[in-house]
Amino acid sequence: MDKILVHGGRRLSGSVRISGSKNSALPILAATLLTAEPCVIHCVPDLSDIHYMLQILSHLGAQVERASGTVTVQADKIKTVAPYEIVRKMRASVCVLGPLLGRHREAKVSLPGGCVIGDRPIDLHLRGFRALNAACRVEAGDVKVFADELRGSTMNLEGKQGPTVLGTDNIMMAATLAEGVTVIEGAAAEPEVVDLANFLIKMGAKIEGAGTRRISIEGVKQLHGTEHSVIPDRIEAGTFLVAAALAGTEVTLRRVNPDHLFSISNALKEAGFILEIQRDQITLRSNGGVRPLELITEPYPGFPTDMQAQMCALLNRANGVSRVTETVFPQRFMHISELKRMGASIELEGATAIIHGATELSGAPVMASDLRASAALVLAGLVAEGVTEVNRVYHIDRGYESIDEKLAGLGAHIERVKEPRPR
Ligand code: EPU
Repeated sequence: MDKILVHGGRRLSGSVRISGSKNSALPILAATLLTAEPCVIHCVPDLSDIHYMLQILSHLGAQVERASGTVTVQADKIKTVAPYEIVRKMRASVCVLGPLLGRHREAKVSLPGGCVIGDRPIDLHLRGFRALNAACRVEAGDVKVFADELRGSTMNLEGKQGPTVLGTDNIMMAATLAEGVTVIEGAAAEPEVVDLANFLIKMGAKIEGAGTRRISIEGVKQLHGTEHSVIPDRIEAGTFLVAAALAGTEVTLRRVNPDHLFSISNALKEAGFILEIQRDQITLRSNGGVRPLELITEPYPGFPTDMQAQMCALLNRANGVSRVTETVFPQRFMHISELKRMGASIELEGATAIIHGATELSGAPVMASDLRASAALVLAGLVAEGVTEVNRVYHIDRGYESIDEKLAGLGAHIERVKEPRPR
């Protein structure tokens, strides 16, 4: 298993190009199953989660070609069953259910297992499929959805923890080929949902309201192939902004959508940083110390849960006490114990991390537990005294394209140690 060694203390400067969004590309790739015609997708990041999705599409019978950041998928003849060996590696594989149900009126996908960031139920996805007149069964580890006739209806997909991103995606995809009109109330409004809706509209779907909490979809008889560029990854961008805030003098992010980064930019401004925002780039400069923050994660346009761990790493440097409350995945705090091993002073009170700032961190061997937690440990390593050894780097490779090379390009002293796989 590879590990990343971060030698702390280097200042970061220069510019970095942000990759296409993982969480947009995954459902967009799944949506190519809705048509027999070829779809060409640009700005697809080179990540292990994307490779898993391409493997699922190939397993289902699609022809997949990849040339650097462009993926072409033609799903003319497809199967509707995705077994455990194929889907177990990635939870987002559930988003093939919607397109398969839409196109073939049936799908059987093995349920992905547990996840360290908390319970990841799919009850809201099933609620939506049932509202479309599909039957849903969970048996022998698989979820099976099928319908003689898929009929549009009005539904509310809001759960106890708020809206669901992949649930909204799944229902929107299935509804494009249902009879009549579907209205999703309590829909997720994340930019990735809007990107998927824009892709579906280019395929011939009739969708209104994406980006609001009410999306309406008028079913059509069939969809056609198209070409699309995935939006920039706002979480990768946010992670580099925090890297710049922790260790940078002046760092510019290229190919970003500043609108999608509004809550993250605001938090960083409130913490005392200077942000210069242009059409598709952002420059962050330090302005002395870091001010403590009160942060609450919320669905978009609120502060994203996918940036919570990275902000915890930053707030160790604040002059005072910060409180970070997680409302989307209330158990998503695995990074806290690892940050404490590096010298951080943090207490957990329920779903709130209380971070006592201005601590000096020291490098240590740490264990990455999920994607964003791993990123937070790499960021903490940039300012820790000595060497931080981040193990289980495969978590980072799920969602950050060449994070080590990109940080090295900004001046970080960071290296990847390849370890041979055990026989
Ligand atoms: N939820 C339910 N029932 C459901 C679905 C969700 O109760 O049927 C709950 C979840 O347990 C959670 C909340 O609703 O408390 C929100 O979950 P959501 O369904 O929105 O999460 P997701 O769609 O599975 C996507 C991203 C996550 C990101 C969340 C929240 C992808 C592939 N994943 O997951 O990204 O944290 O939305 O914004 O788009 C990451 O990239 O590191 C990551 C985990």
